[in-house]
Amino acid sequence: MADLLLALDVKGKAEAVRVATACTGELDAIKIGYPLVLSTGLEIVKDLAKSEIPIIADFKVADIPNTNSLICEEVFGAGCAGIITHAFCGSDSLAACVDASHDHGGVCFVVCEMSHPGALDFLSGENAERMARMAKAAGADGIIAPATRPERTATLRTIIGSSMKIYSPGVGAQGAQPEDVKKYVDGIIVGRAIYEAADPKAAAHEFRVRAR
Ligand code: C5P
Repeated sequence: MADLLLALDVKGKAEAVRVATACTGELDAIKIGYPLVLSTGLEIVKDLAKSEIPIIADFKVADIPNTNSLICEEVFGAGCAGIITHAFCGSDSLAACVDASHDHGGVCFVVCEMSHPGALDFLSGENAERMARMAKAAGADGIIAPATRPERTATLRTIIGSSMKIYSPGVGAQGAQPEDVKKYVDGIIVGRAIYEAADPKAAAHEFRVRAR
């Protein structure tokens, strides 16, 4: 049984609020990222917070420890409940993100393996497994692993165990189905297949039911 997270990669406040409001009651969290925040500013978090579900900032943080901490301060100060970071900058950068998240009462998820074909160049295989071990050692709350390669997500689950969460993108537009990964993960992340649907609420409802 997996939660449903909406990847709200639309541009502008009006469209973001339209989709989020339409999906009321069908979502467990909203993931925001650069497309939306660069078009609206972080104030969008307050607008979306009216829906009373957690907002997770997918900024794929990848910098030195001090900069990572400063990014976390802004994200949690704006009202986000969680942040998504990269791990490839090393254990000190990752620790800074995890610690700053926890200091602000938030959660930190770590990208281990990405969902698109190009992930196979770097963000997969042994590298992904090393980053999963690093995420666990850093005390991260969970990892991001691909619905498009469920066997890889299953492998990453064996590395992190059951005490950490896995959120899994790739369902819908990237071709994966909820049924492919729901037994390995705590949440599926769906973007275009919901926010581009003629009826986003109906689409979200169907994904939510299929993820259960
Ligand atoms: O539209 P779609 O459902 O493909 O959106 C997937 C979302 O998940 C996007 O926001 C993308 O940036 C994000 N994501 C991903 N693969 C990862 C990490 C994040 O697709 N490994």
